[in-house]
Amino acid sequence: MLRGNALRRCFSSGSLKNVTEELIPKLESILGVENVKTSASVREHYGHDESHFRNYPPDVVVTPQCVEQVSEVAKFANDRRVPLIPFGTGTGIEGGVNAIRGGICMDLKAMDEIKELSVENFDCVVQPGVTRKALNNFLRDTGLWFSVDPGADASVCGMVATGASGTNTVRYGTIIDNVRNLEVVLADGTILGGTRGKGRRPRKSSAGYNLTQLFVGSEGTLGVITSACVKLHARPAFISAAVCAFPDVKSAVQSVVETLQRSIPIARIEFLDSAQIEACNSYSNLNMAKAPTLFLEFHGSAESEVAQQAQFVEDICHSNKGSDFKWSTEQDEMNRLWTARHNAWYAALSQRPGRRGFSTDVCVPISHLARVVDETRKDIDASGVFGTIVGHVGDGNFHCIFCVDEEDPKERAAVQQLSDNVVKRALAVGGTCTGEHGIGMGKVNYLKEELGESTLNVMKALKRTLDPNGILNPGKVLDM
Ligand SMILES: Cc1cc2nc3c(=O)[nH]c(=O)nc-3n(C[C@H](O)[C@H](O)[C@H](O)COP(=O)(O)OP(=O)(O)OC[C@H]3O[C@@H](n4cnc5c(N)ncnc54)[C@H](O)[C@@H]3O)c2cc1C
Ligand SMILES: *[C@@H]1O[C@H](CO)[C@@H](O)[C@H](O)[C@H]1NC(C)=O
Repeated sequence: MLRGNALRRCFSSGSLKNVTEELIPKLESILGVENVKTSASVREHYGHDESHFRNYPPDVVVTPQCVEQVSEVAKFANDRRVPLIPFGTGTGIEGGVNAIRGGICMDLKAMDEIKELSVENFDCVVQPGVTRKALNNFLRDTGLWFSVDPGADASVCGMVATGASGTNTVRYGTIIDNVRNLEVVLADGTILGGTRGKGRRPRKSSAGYNLTQLFVGSEGTLGVITSACVKLHARPAFISAAVCAFPDVKSAVQSVVETLQRSIPIARIEFLDSAQIEACNSYSNLNMAKAPTLFLEFHGSAESEVAQQAQFVEDICHSNKGSDFKWSTEQDEMNRLWTARHNAWYAALSQRPGRRGFSTDVCVPISHLARVVDETRKDIDASGVFGTIVGHVGDGNFHCIFCVDEEDPKERAAVQQLSDNVVKRALAVGGTCTGEHGIGMGKVNYLKEELGESTLNVMKALKRTLDPNGILNPGKVLDM
């Protein structure tokens, strides 16, 4: 146990906001000494995610082993008014885990059980330490898979907390469509056995308010998600992938719209602009034509089915001046392609070594997508800042990836301006300031314009009801 000077010495870096004589010993008595860490390096490790936001180390990092410990820590934090920040895998890109007011970071990785797999019901229950790749490895021999794919190997509960999606959404839905029930620990330590009732997993229900959905996208501000019952899908028997280059953004997006209009059950349809293609070529050693490009994937239960889908889309792409439509069912070829897409973020960053990645994430009605992407590209070019555009275009969702030199105030301001402009454009056409990354610390100020005062006030009232002392991830999502 640490006391007095010894305690203070541990916190030599960063400012300590919430450390009292009592804090550490109490946490150690709940969790065991080995599950309470206060070294500067550990605190720094947990003070940030993958975003450009600066490091805000928590005062202490704890690793609960079970829901009862989560509950006890929450109860104590609530009694003493100490911030409590849930931590999944730290792959977020809006500064969700940064401890802006210090406090207790709760790393949930040790709770990593996969339980109650039901092959007949297409669902299973995961604890918060389970990542999507771990879940899919576990499911390998069952014929089932978990579809939501943000690229990064995020924790499934962290994905629930951010309202994540990614490629695949166009066919299988976002995490919002793929959760059946959640176990949540509230700010005062109350364990909600299930937002739908403990152990329940109906495919549908009209029983009261949808509390499951309330916690989707709550970013650690309403409760700690300690397990999630998620939907699974039958693994497609046949998969094929394709790429197609276009003379301009508009023709690429028009092909997407026509594909959706014909109800072709496309599994993924991703857009990469020419700057991103160039980055992927050099990072992943490919030689794709430097042009706006669509990456596509088709799923089906027979080979003829995926072949037919690909043929339909090829015709659509050709009629929109798409050139060189290449499709393949070769596993290696498909892996190469999707690995390149999943590495888009790192590929963009590799173009400007030493800079931090800054991502925007807007979602607009598809009818406005081509124009918004086009205007955004022109805006980036005029600014002189390096940036690429990638998009889950089947959903009207796209990101700009900027490389920013944090030491250069002019560049930082230019990137912030570009990011504000994208949001403005999205809101002006009836879209949203975030399709999937969440609000975190960077987008708090856009919410009022997007939602309007009364809707925002309902959100604030919910926050006050569930977390009256404001201990859960304070300063995130809402300005409170
Ligand atoms: C290269 C790259 C590509 C990405 N692409 C996509 C993409 O295509 N689509 C997409 O949606 N996202 C994408 N992301 C963002 C990221 O993967 C998601 O936001 C993911 O959902 C975060 O999960 P996590 O477990 O890492 O959460 P963390 O980063 O640990 O936490 C994120 C937020 O959720 C809260 N939280 C975490 N776990 C819990 C819990 N158990 N209970 C309550 N609150 C919790 C945290 O407090 C924080 O506010 C990408 C990230 C990277 C680095
Ligand atoms: C409630 O919300 C969840 C999460 O968004 C969703 O998956 C589910 O279908 C909704 N309805 C019910 C009855 O749970």
